[in-house]
Amino acid sequence: MENTREGLESAEKTIGDFVAEDYRTAKVFEKYGIDFCCGGGVPLTTACREKGLDPATLLQEIEAAKAEPLERSRNYAAWDLPFLADYIVNTHHGYIREEAKGIAAYARKIAEVHGARHPEVIEIANIFAAIIQDLMAHLREEEEVLFPAVKRIDTAQKGGMDPAPADRELIKQTLDRLNRDHLEVGDAVHRIRHLAADYAIPDDVCNTFVLTYKKLREFEDDLHKHVHLENNILFPKVGKP
Ligand SMILES: [Fe+2]
Ligand SMILES: [Fe+2]
Repeated sequence: MENTREGLESAEKTIGDFVAEDYRTAKVFEKYGIDFCCGGGVPLTTACREKGLDPATLLQEIEAAKAEPLERSRNYAAWDLPFLADYIVNTHHGYIREEAKGIAAYARKIAEVHGARHPEVIEIANIFAAIIQDLMAHLREEEEVLFPAVKRIDTAQKGGMDPAPADRELIKQTLDRLNRDHLEVGDAVHRIRHLAADYAIPDDVCNTFVLTYKKLREFEDDLHKHVHLENNILFPKVGKP
């Protein structure tokens, strides 16, 4: 495939483009530990070089993933933007609001109990607490500023009217800030994963430790899906003039 024109063009596409076009490809990138959300702006060839992978193999696996049946319920790129925004709030913002405080408490607990033998968990607890603080303001900005403006523009367009220039301006200003937040929070969860040695469980720890690592891993997974929907689908569509 790598010698065909289509193969060459695909190799230059970014990871985020592949997943935005077709969410079924996400599992290929997950399998090889390639970041498709916060770091999704990287071309496939670059991502492969960094991981020592052959782009042709990945392209084959991507084609195979795309050949599987697609449910419309997972075809996020085809949803209209108000529905996508509501889905993000109900699914991913809801998850953070329900789980984050509990995970932060677990992380603090294992830092107290195991910090002496495993100093990395102290740093993990500190990073996680900072993530939560930043995320709460971030979610509010999306829910109270960005998403309402997206909905007003959508309503205007569906009614055949020009969207208010003030909403366009609001979106432009907000997107830069929100994108920066995504990079920072993505960086922070990757630092946690690194400190936790990919969530490997040490021999001398309790069940709370095991549960905390499981929850931190779930949190990272949910954040990847959440940021992917915003960075690769919602934000590019609302950012178009
Ligand atoms: Fe969000
Ligand atoms: Fe966000």
